[in-house]
Amino acid sequence: MNKIPVGVLGATGMVGQTIIQLLENHPWFEVTEVAASERSAGKSYAEAMANRWNITPEIPEYARDLMLKEAKPDLDCKIALSALDSSVALEIEREFAQAGYAVSSNSKNHRMDKDVPLLIPEINADHVDLIKIQQKNRKWKGFVVTDPNCSTIHMCIPLKALLDSFGLEKVMVTTLQAVSGAGYPGVPSMDITDNVLPFIREEEEKLQTEPLKILGKFSGQEIKNAKFAISATCNRVAVKYGHTECLSVKLSKKATREEIISSFKKFNPLASLKLPSAPKHPIIYNDAENRPQPKLDANLGGGMASVVGRLRECTILDYKFTVLGHNLIRGAAGAAVLNAELLKVKGYLE
Ligand SMILES: NC(=O)c1ccc[n+]([C@@H]2O[C@H](COP(=O)([O-])OP(=O)(O)OC[C@H]3O[C@@H](n4cnc5c(N)ncnc54)[C@H](OP(=O)(O)O)[C@@H]3O)[C@@H](O)[C@H]2O)c1
Repeated sequence: MNKIPVGVLGATGMVGQTIIQLLENHPWFEVTEVAASERSAGKSYAEAMANRWNITPEIPEYARDLMLKEAKPDLDCKIALSALDSSVALEIEREFAQAGYAVSSNSKNHRMDKDVPLLIPEINADHVDLIKIQQKNRKWKGFVVTDPNCSTIHMCIPLKALLDSFGLEKVMVTTLQAVSGAGYPGVPSMDITDNVLPFIREEEEKLQTEPLKILGKFSGQEIKNAKFAISATCNRVAVKYGHTECLSVKLSKKATREEIISSFKKFNPLASLKLPSAPKHPIIYNDAENRPQPKLDANLGGGMASVVGRLRECTILDYKFTVLGHNLIRGAAGAAVLNAELLKVKGYLE
């Protein structure tokens, strides 16, 4: 099979380099272009990343000699995986979509647009058909699909299992988010070392709105949002990779602890699509009293799984539990790659 040519926009950032890593030896995709700001353009990828590559020991061999370009829609690729800083992503992604490229974005800008799919393939693969409405509305030859905020993704996966089995009425979530979630160089070390920062700009709003669209139903014309209440509190902690989220939920139907764990364990709606980056088990439940932990569990399922533990009764709502997930892999780069794989199997990359 001829591989589909991929451009990585924002290839020099934390998410961009993770995409470069995940696409090494990908069975369907080949990175043909890397792009970033004019500060990086004109350098080889290896040169630009000499002091910035920090996710694995070495830059993948295939990417070292790729020449960085500016993120302009004249790249030799079918699909652009965008890890652009959100301050520039809106305009650049729009230009690519207008010019006929498929764009799989990590940025916040288009997520809540009514005609843009906000995808977690295990939950709402059918929302991908919003693309047809988007292209009609905007007269674009290409299109944009987005992945959710990194904490939203890991929260929504177990919530979908609960919603389908028992219904959901209320969710309270408190996050402990890794520093790599703030990009590179991100939070100053003097601010975060030995410390917890109790505020991440716009994060709580994202956690309170994005899940309702993701877990909503697509009528064929529009998404009808899910209807339950979410209250979120977000903190930045001195952890490198992996966001931890403590949830309490009120269910619509009574459920036992065993029934809830069983709903987590059997949740695997993507199995039949055989997407190369889909984790074998989207939810890994660990019953140990001291798990999940970022240091031990963030890389489970290749960083694509949401790891759940500490399920117990809640004295205010019904149950509480902890979710942990890799913010750069399933929370961003891996999500954009998985969305691209979904686009391929749904015929949007022909
Ligand atoms: N980090 C996470 O865990 C995470 C999770 C979910 C979503 N996201 C989202 O993913 C995106 C990337 O995040 P990140 O953490 O990788 O950020 P980052 O490390 O700061 O990287 C930002 C990238 O954007 C490029 N860029 C900046 N200004 C540009 C311009 N004017 N034109 C073209 N490219 C430009 C940078 O290129 P230069 O190197 O040339 O400056 C760099 O490649 C953001 O929208 C972020 O909100 C991040």
